[in-house]
Amino acid sequence: MITVRAPATSANLGSGFDVFGVALDRPADRVTVERAETTTIEVSGAGSDFIPNDPTRNTAGVVAQELDAPAHIRIEKGVRPSSGLGSSAASAAAAAVALNELYDRGLTREELVRVAAQGEAAVSGDAHADNVAPAILGGFTIVRDDGVTSTPADVPLVACLPEIVVSTRDAREVVPESVATADVVDTVGSAATLTAGMHRNDPVLVGRGMRECVVTPARAALIDGYADAVSYAKEAGATGATISGSGPGVLAVCYPGRQRDVAAALVDGFEDAGIDARAFQSGVGRGAELL
Ligand code: HSE
Repeated sequence: MITVRAPATSANLGSGFDVFGVALDRPADRVTVERAETTTIEVSGAGSDFIPNDPTRNTAGVVAQELDAPAHIRIEKGVRPSSGLGSSAASAAAAAVALNELYDRGLTREELVRVAAQGEAAVSGDAHADNVAPAILGGFTIVRDDGVTSTPADVPLVACLPEIVVSTRDAREVVPESVATADVVDTVGSAATLTAGMHRNDPVLVGRGMRECVVTPARAALIDGYADAVSYAKEAGATGATISGSGPGVLAVCYPGRQRDVAAALVDGFEDAGIDARAFQSGVGRGAELL
C-alpha cells in the first residue's frame, strides 16, 4: 500500500495562460493505492460529494487506466473541487506518482506529468498540464508541448476562494480566439518579468508580471466581486493578484509580512459583493511526495 501527498496548485499566474503553474504549500490531497483486479475509487474530504467515483470519470481512475495499473484508490481531498486550485490535478498527480511506485513502472516525474494530464483531459475535455506539472514537480513550472521546466521559488502568496462556482469549460469559452499584436507584446513582457521574479524570489517582479489583458478581463466578468477583491488586495500589500487557474479563486503575491492583511482584503472585496470567501496564506510548495 502506498500513500502520496500532492499539493494544490495555481495555473496561469495571469500572463502564463496554459503555460505557468505554481505549487502551493497547502492544502493537499492524499491518495492511497493498493493493488487490485480492477480499479475502484473511494473519495472523502473537501467537496467529495461532487467527485465521481466511476474510474472512467475520475482523474485518478483515468491515470490508473493509462498506467495499466488497476488498484483500489482512496482519495482524501484537501483541495476543494471547482476552486481554481487544481483539485482534480492534485488527485491525478498523487495517483500517478503512487501507481508508478506500486507497479514499479519506472517512469520519470516528467513522464508522469503527461500521464496525469490525461486524467485532467477526462474531466475537463482538454489535457492541460499546467496544474499537474507543479503538483508533481513542485515549485514554479513552465509547460510547453516540448517539455516542462520546474524551478523552486520563494515568494509570499495568498489564495482566496469565493463561494461561487465557475466551471473550467465556461471559463474557456470566454477566452478570445484572436489577439492583437500589442497584447501579445504586453503579455510576453509580463511573462518574462514574472519568470525573472520567480528566479530571483522577488515578489515585486512576480506581481508585476501577473498583468495580462486578454484572458483575465474576459474571465473576471464571470467572477462577481473580483475587481474589488484585487483592488483591495493591492491596497493591503499585494504586489499583484490574478485569477487562479480558470477561477473563481484568486491568487495574490505579497510584500513580505503583508499576507494577513492581503488575505483579509480579498475576503472583504468578495463580501462587499455579497459573496462569502475564505483566504489562506501560502508559499511556493514542493511537488508530490511519498508518505
Ligand atoms: N490553464 C487552464 C485554464 C487551467 O485556465 O483554463 C485550468 O485547467
